[in-house]
Amino acid sequence: MHISSLGIYPHTRNFDVDKDIPDLTGKVYVVTGGTYAVSSAAKRQGYGGLGLETTFQLLRHNATVYIAGKSKKSALTAISSLKERLADKYSVQNPTVYFHHLDLENIQACVDSARDLGIKTAHIDCIIANAGISFLPFYLTRDGIENCMAHLGHFTFVTRLLAKMNDGARVVVVSSEAHEIANKINYYGITSPLANPEWLSIFGVIGPASRYAQSKFANVLFANKLARDNPRLLVNACHPGLISTGINRSAGAYTSFFNSVYNWVLSLIGMSIKDGATTQLFLATATDIERNKVTGKYFSPIALETESSKASRDINAADELWEWSETKVKETIMDSQIKDLKIRNMN
Ligand SMILES: NC(=O)c1ccc[n+]([C@@H]2O[C@H](COP(=O)([O-])OP(=O)(O)OC[C@H]3O[C@@H](n4cnc5c(N)ncnc54)[C@H](OP(=O)(O)O)[C@@H]3O)[C@@H](O)[C@H]2O)c1
Repeated sequence: MHISSLGIYPHTRNFDVDKDIPDLTGKVYVVTGGTYAVSSAAKRQGYGGLGLETTFQLLRHNATVYIAGKSKKSALTAISSLKERLADKYSVQNPTVYFHHLDLENIQACVDSARDLGIKTAHIDCIIANAGISFLPFYLTRDGIENCMAHLGHFTFVTRLLAKMNDGARVVVVSSEAHEIANKINYYGITSPLANPEWLSIFGVIGPASRYAQSKFANVLFANKLARDNPRLLVNACHPGLISTGINRSAGAYTSFFNSVYNWVLSLIGMSIKDGATTQLFLATATDIERNKVTGKYFSPIALETESSKASRDINAADELWEWSETKVKETIMDSQIKDLKIRNMN
């Protein structure tokens, strides 16, 4: 890990959202997790999500954007804040932005979400897999997966939308420099509470941080394999920088002190939300990516090609994760169909 690629000030800038994003009229983007709109209290502290800022910049350049998130209420607040900001600052009236339901913790819902989105739109030019959580206490999702593994939701959603993506379409996977901390996937730990005892959550440093690192490691493996298997697409991963966004806002009691300190430090030395969104915007919009057929790469702030960790470039590890993900998704879908059938038979 290089301190220069962490994304704290000062840093090198290779892309400027104010000058370098081309006109995106007719382009359809899907941004996962663009739902975190700033409350007025959070605004004072500079909080807000990278997905929201990414959506804002895409709309500013005339794209159509589907915000794919789990909370309709948050998304509608986010959309009205976007519309206000676009009208006030850039005289953009009636931006084409829609909420699309996606809960990454629920595999069957990810399948349904991809199917419904496929009905709504004829094509997709770019999916930005941005949503994530971190530093949360351990729990298993309804599908029996530890909560940080948003990888599996993105795997399900993105792979089911590939047929909607024309040659040259892009996928941007938002990972983190934290991926360097993990060097393998602990498959047992992903599904077992026994591997995640509560004491590991104390101060939020050991358990939650290592689970977050593992999920970001999985993001890079996924992006690399997706790029390798789909040479017609442009698939890249990135670390956005270190930004006080409030991503840890749902942290439990043990972790809230650690998070307050972490966010305070980041508000002093971290990047702005606009700069934090720039690397993913570069990958999603820059003409250079298309011209140079950039795919299977990893970028650090701001829009600099760097190398992800050696372990994350391991082809076998990526194949293994893909196979595990496919099996887990199939099993989960089968379980949920059996449950549905039982309910129907009871009625
Ligand atoms: N901030 C940093 O310093 C930093 C550093 C490195 C990497 N990153 C990565 O950057 C990405 C964006 O994070 P951020 O800092 O902008 O945080 P954020 O503001 O909290 O954004 C995360 C988004 O993910 C959504 N989300 C969480 N769980 C979800 C689920 N189950 N289904 C669908 N959406 C879900 C959240 O929706 P709700 O609001 O409804 O919960 C929120 O909109 C993440 O992948 C993060 O790992 C951030």
